[in-house]
Amino acid sequence: MLNKITVVGAGNVGATTAQRLAEKELARQVVLVDVIEGVPQGKGLDLWESAPIEGYDTRLIGTNEYGPSEGSDIVVITAGIARKPGMSRDDLLNTNAGIVKQVAEHVKNSSPNAIVIVVSNPLDVMSWVAMKMTGFPRERVLGMAGVLDTGRYRSFLAEALDVSVRDIQAMVLGGHGDTMVPLLSYTSVSGIPVTQLLDQAKLDAIISRTRSGGAEIVKYLKTGSAYYAPSAAVVQMCEAIAFDQKRVLPCAAWLQGEYGQSGVFLGVPCKLGRAGLEKIFEVSLTDDERAALAKSADAVREPMSAVQL
Ligand code: LAC
Repeated sequence: MLNKITVVGAGNVGATTAQRLAEKELARQVVLVDVIEGVPQGKGLDLWESAPIEGYDTRLIGTNEYGPSEGSDIVVITAGIARKPGMSRDDLLNTNAGIVKQVAEHVKNSSPNAIVIVVSNPLDVMSWVAMKMTGFPRERVLGMAGVLDTGRYRSFLAEALDVSVRDIQAMVLGGHGDTMVPLLSYTSVSGIPVTQLLDQAKLDAIISRTRSGGAEIVKYLKTGSAYYAPSAAVVQMCEAIAFDQKRVLPCAAWLQGEYGQSGVFLGVPCKLGRAGLEKIFEVSLTDDERAALAKSADAVREPMSAVQL
């Protein structure tokens, strides 16, 4: 069990993340930080009052200050505005860059040894903002998107095949946007290549639904974006770190030549353990997949160049 995890942003993603972290007892203390007066305090207290009923000993507190968050082992950044119908993740760019910049400066001072997991959108660009503003090494700054995108892909495949979600192995790489790259060549059902089980038209439809999975939820909710699957995804990453599980999960990582890309955060297969990002696996890709990944990297670089820090 870790000593302390801070979740910045007490909106739907942040509060649900805090709830899942506590229910899994991943840390002795979970601190919910938000600038809005009363909201983190109220949600933190409400979650703490669930502890005797749910039976967890994780102590939750909510605060507007970074003092109680001092010395966190992990900081999850969810702060920022969410999409409304018709908006792309890039439409959030400048507002969220300003927010993530401020948060990162606080994290640098209050939790200089933390592993930072970024959830704010546009995800890959915000991960870069957090890394730049904290000055942390790439091993300690990760973006959550691949686990979420892969979760959506796996859920659609399980539905189409009418099999357990547990038996679908898959990986979605690339940026967290329309250019994400579901890897068909690494998608299997208990080792059976998925191409033996579903025809190309069905697979194409599932891939296309995965790419717009976030927008599908925004369209339903109208006033915000998804939070159950995003919080589940970030907590899986926290669990891999907390228990030094060495799990291989698709996460946004700062690339330094891997997959022929540098100077960009992009979803790639990462080994996560107590040190954070412990290894990036470079798997062989088809020419089409490699080209799609390069296109996805360019789609992340473009908004990066528009951010003023
Ligand atoms: C989504 C948002 C969180 O994909 O980016 O649902």
